[in-house]
Amino acid sequence: MKKTSHIPELHDWIVAEKKLGRRIGLVPTMGYLHRGHLTLIEHAKQTGAFVVVSIFVNPLQFGPTEDLSRYPRDLERDARLLEDAGVDILFHPTVEEMYPRPTVTFVEVGELDQVLCGAARPGHFRGVATVVSKLFHIVEPDMAFFGQKDYQQYLIIKRMVSDLNLRIKICAVPIVREEDGLAMSSRNVFLKAEERQEALVLSRSLQEAGENLRSGQRSAREIEAQIRARIHRESHGVIDYVEVRDAEDLSEVTDIKRPVLLALAVRFGTTRLIDNKVVEVDTIV
Ligand code: PAJ
Repeated sequence: MKKTSHIPELHDWIVAEKKLGRRIGLVPTMGYLHRGHLTLIEHAKQTGAFVVVSIFVNPLQFGPTEDLSRYPRDLERDARLLEDAGVDILFHPTVEEMYPRPTVTFVEVGELDQVLCGAARPGHFRGVATVVSKLFHIVEPDMAFFGQKDYQQYLIIKRMVSDLNLRIKICAVPIVREEDGLAMSSRNVFLKAEERQEALVLSRSLQEAGENLRSGQRSAREIEAQIRARIHRESHGVIDYVEVRDAEDLSEVTDIKRPVLLALAVRFGTTRLIDNKVVEVDTIV
């Protein structure tokens, strides 16, 4: 595996691969890798692409009161995992390499960025769309891989690519969970033992809501109320949001007739966790 923090060097390597006819697959991450990230890489490898993984904790997507400085990092361990996973290039730029001067150019994906995590974290998705668009220009991938763990982020990137006519295929990868159901996240390391245990209510309440949908429940507000009630009953988590929205465009839903996204964000102590579940229309006939 080749490693670099420099854009020109990365570019030279990629141009050489493209000349050989290789297709390029990009997996953007912020590092502190877990099995969720590695699953994205497996999907990328399976396409036969030349796989580039980026590790960059992007300051632009963190709010002033958020956890940028405490975001977990371990580049050496990450590099070993990526090497074992058969990644071709690790790109790990510094903040100076990505933002040699304060950027005044931003990519903003309207509407989709106003709800759910966008409402709770103003500016967050502008930071994500801007850095991902920079990475797309730097790496020039044929395809890029995103996890459904961050479902709203995935939709926003897909919409950005469509609106800006970028020739990049966006591939979604299902949520990877711990054996007990907790969605894998770099932030899980911050959870105290009791918080970690209580956080299981997230996946369990989503699972239950999915079953209720399948057995005929159609009221979005009722589903939300049930999830909220269970979280309150079984944990000390502080709910940021629990919402049922259209799975394609995140628009509001009252009576559920099309595929929906059940999405939630809950704080356990100082750690904010997100989780979601997409319920497809063919399973809710
Ligand atoms: P990060 O949180 O490191 O996640 C990188 C990618 O891994 C994202 O596409 C995310 O959805 C995916 N991922 C994380 N946990 C997952 C899980 N449990 N199952 C499946 N996929 C999972 O998301 C970001 O970084 C950043 O916002 C980034 C896109 C890199 C832009 O800075």
